Amino acid sequence: MISRIRTGVFFGGPSVEHEVSVISAMQAVAALDESRYEIIPVYVTKSGDFYTGEHLKKLESFRDIPAALAAAKKVALQKEGKDVQLVLAKQKKLGSSVVAVLDVALLVFHGTGGEDGVMQAHFQRLGLPYTGPDVTSSAVGMDKWASKALFRMSGLPCVPALRVSKSAYYADPEAVCARIEGEIGYPAVIKPYNLGSSVGIHKCRDRASLQNGLEDAFLYSGGVMAEKAVPNLREINCAVLGDEESARASVCEEPLNATDILTYADKYQSGGKSAKGGAKSPSGGSKGMQSLARQVPAPISDALSERIRALAVDAFHAVGAAGCARVDFLMDGATEEVFINEINTIPGSLAFYLWEASGLPFPALLDEMIALALKRRREEESLHTTFETNLLQTASLGGSKSGKKV
Ligand SMILES: Nc1ncnc2c1ncn2[C@@H]1O[C@H](COP(=O)(O)OP(=O)(O)O)[C@@H](O)[C@H]1O
Ligand SMILES: [Mg+2]
Repeated sequence: MISRIRTGVFFGGPSVEHEVSVISAMQAVAALDESRYEIIPVYVTKSGDFYTGEHLKKLESFRDIPAALAAAKKVALQKEGKDVQLVLAKQKKLGSSVVAVLDVALLVFHGTGGEDGVMQAHFQRLGLPYTGPDVTSSAVGMDKWASKALFRMSGLPCVPALRVSKSAYYADPEAVCARIEGEIGYPAVIKPYNLGSSVGIHKCRDRASLQNGLEDAFLYSGGVMAEKAVPNLREINCAVLGDEESARASVCEEPLNATDILTYADKYQSGGKSAKGGAKSPSGGSKGMQSLARQVPAPISDALSERIRALAVDAFHAVGAAGCARVDFLMDGATEEVFINEINTIPGSLAFYLWEASGLPFPALLDEMIALALKRRREEESLHTTFETNLLQTASLGGSKSGKKV
């Protein structure tokens, strides 16, 4: 029998999307092919501690988190020779503290501290292959200002925006508002550029709401941007799977929002409000996310869908993404002008419902994400990372007559 790939499924973490990450991870655990993968769940608490245990493969366990943690083992990752081990946080005096050895990490974090390069750097350092983009691309993808800069450099359509710093605003609120009014105009959308789930986002129609919006957004982030509001808004999302060589787009979806801004509640708490054609899958365990009102495929023309799918692949390449991402678009419903809004490098539910609708079942999506992680690691290993030099034989700190100065 071929040995199974020892797969750590990492999820949770410090972000506002912690709970959504638990749901996405449980959906992935339910879909992973156990004949090919040995699944080792690793739940990361909001304060950053790692826990493992068989019961952490079940969504029900997370209804009572203190009880789930009490029954779990607190662990840490460590490198031992070529192995990356999951070891007990409190090492035993006698006997082995090794809980598992991992071949690959399936990352199912959403938002800050998990999707933004921080976790990716941890795995990179250990040399453990991980799904999704590398450190840089994860960080750029999470930062709406940085990704917009790369989209623009690649000639992709984005909504005009201004970056507003907290210190500049509080030094002279009138001047900052006047600049936004002059360059962006009303209605303007104010958003922190490193958060998700519509937290801290405001649509402002006048000076008073602009000031309120900015001050609220600054509670969440020092980095805020003001964007032109897209009129007659329709939102279209499209997933992209692959890497530099193989990236391709899924069908499009249209999330159906109840209000001006698609809020956290609309996204994750819209219980029962299932749209016609909405994604329902037996592989999921989440009521909240399955009942999110959406239409798959989006009710748009084939030509528009093709245009959006091509832009989604371009956006994926623009930030150097890998794995499965979801690119979100804003569209003026009257003119069908489309703008790339953002890329989510670890999308909710790993966007499995878009791939299912494109003919790729969830287990096959996970196979491909894991294969891409292993492929990237092999490619990295084939690169030269050292350079022979005799500098230390000859260098001195200066002052000495012999040896070269550095
Ligand atoms: N420029 C804009 N014009 C109109 N609506 C916008 C604009 N930017 C964002 N929105 C609305 O706000 C929502 C959340 O903004 P988004 O940039 O997607 O942040 P998040 O990371 O929180 O999803 C969008 O889904 C959309 O409904
Ligand atoms: Mg969004």
